[in-house]
Formats: sequence, structure tokens, C-alpha cells
Amino acid sequence: MSYGTPHDKPLLRGPVPLSHLIIRQFVTTGAHVVDATCGNGHDTLLLAERAGPTGRVWAFDIQPGAIEATAARLDAAGYRERVDLVQAGHESMTEHCPGPVRAVVFNLGYLPGSDRTVITRPDSTLTGVDQSLSILEPGGITAITLYPGHAGGGQESNLLEARLAQLSPAGFHVWRMAQTNAPGSAPYLILIQKAS
Ligand SMILES: C[S@@+](CC[C@H](N)C(=O)[O-])C[C@H]1O[C@@H](n2cnc3c(N)ncnc32)[C@H](O)[C@@H]1O
Repeated sequence: MSYGTPHDKPLLRGPVPLSHLIIRQFVTTGAHVVDATCGNGHDTLLLAERAGPTGRVWAFDIQPGAIEATAARLDAAGYRERVDLVQAGHESMTEHCPGPVRAVVFNLGYLPGSDRTVITRPDSTLTGVDQSLSILEPGGITAITLYPGHAGGGQESNLLEARLAQLSPAGFHVWRMAQTNAPGSAPYLILIQKAS
């Protein structure tokens, strides 16, 4: 992959490229992984590429348009067979994917280029994140990109952080990665690793 920087390294403009850097480190050939919010399929594509032909990806979204966009992106790359596309909320993750999985990726908020009133909601996000932690293999990660700047996003971020602050440090390593030279409302990344 070419990143377009002079040194051909990823440009860390916002939390998504940072999450991809970390995903690349953890998701290797044969891994089982989940995209909890597949949207336009960018994260699913990376997961399918990394998991390879012997891995498996479960990709969730509540919007039919998101499932179609992700299917088209996977088809174009030749990775469609590696992915179970599930048109359902991530709050039903464990019904469809019993685990264990190496990584779960959440990219919260609304689908770019689509109806901005269809957004992730605090209750279902908390349930989905709880379920992701229950199916992680030891050493596995849940990566969450949060958008506190949009309507409802601040409440979702606050509730999620309050919940994650309750996790035992012996059971989970919880990291918050935010850009210091950006407004407090800028998107940021939370990374949770299940202890091994
Ligand atoms: C920021 S977008 C995801 C972007 C996507 N990961 C990508 O690479 O293009 C957020 C997505 O979450 C979806 N969503 C909202 N509530 C959801 C839920 N309860 N379960 C699963 N997906 C949900 C939206 O439909 C939207 O497509």
C-alpha cells in the first residue's frame, strides 16, 4: 500500500489512520475479527486484507446502503468470501459471532454521504462494546473511533468513557488517544486490550 507521504508512512491526520496502524499490528493472517460499524466498508476492507483467505470477518451495520457499499468494495478487491455481512445492530454481535476474535473495530457516528440522523446511539454502543470485550481473545483489541463534536456524540463519548473507566486494570488495558493540538470536540481513539 502507498500512503502518499514522501517516506511512504501513514499520515496520522485524525484517529482513523491511527486505528489502522494498530489494526495492522494485531490482525494477521487467519485472524477472526469484527467490524461493528461497516459503513462504506473502508475498515472492513482493511480487516479482510489483513485476515487473509484463512481468516474471517463479521461486518455489521443497520443500514442496507452500508451493507451494499461494503459488499461492492469487497467485491472489487476480491475479498467478499472472507466476510459475513450482517445487517443488524452491533448490540446483537454475539448472536452472529460467538468469538473468540482478535479485534473489533467501531467507527461511531453517521455514515459519510448519507442520512446524518442515522447515528450510533449510546445504549446500543455500550451494549456492543460490552459484547466485543466478552468475545475478545486474550491480547485482542477493541478499537473505537469517537466523534464528540456531532449532535449526540458528546453524550455517547462521556457514557462510554465512564463505563470503560470501571473496567478492572487486571482484565483490560484501556487507552485514550486524542490529538493534543486539536479542539476538545475533535474525533479521538479509544483502544481496549483484553489482558492475557
Ligand atoms: C462512521 S460510519 C462507519 C464508517 C465505516 N467504518 C467505514 O469504514 O466506512 C458509522 C456507521 O455506523 C452505523 N450504525 C449506526 N448504529 C449502528 C448499530 N447499532 N450497529 C451497527 N452499525 C450502526 C451507521 O449506519 C454508519 O454506517
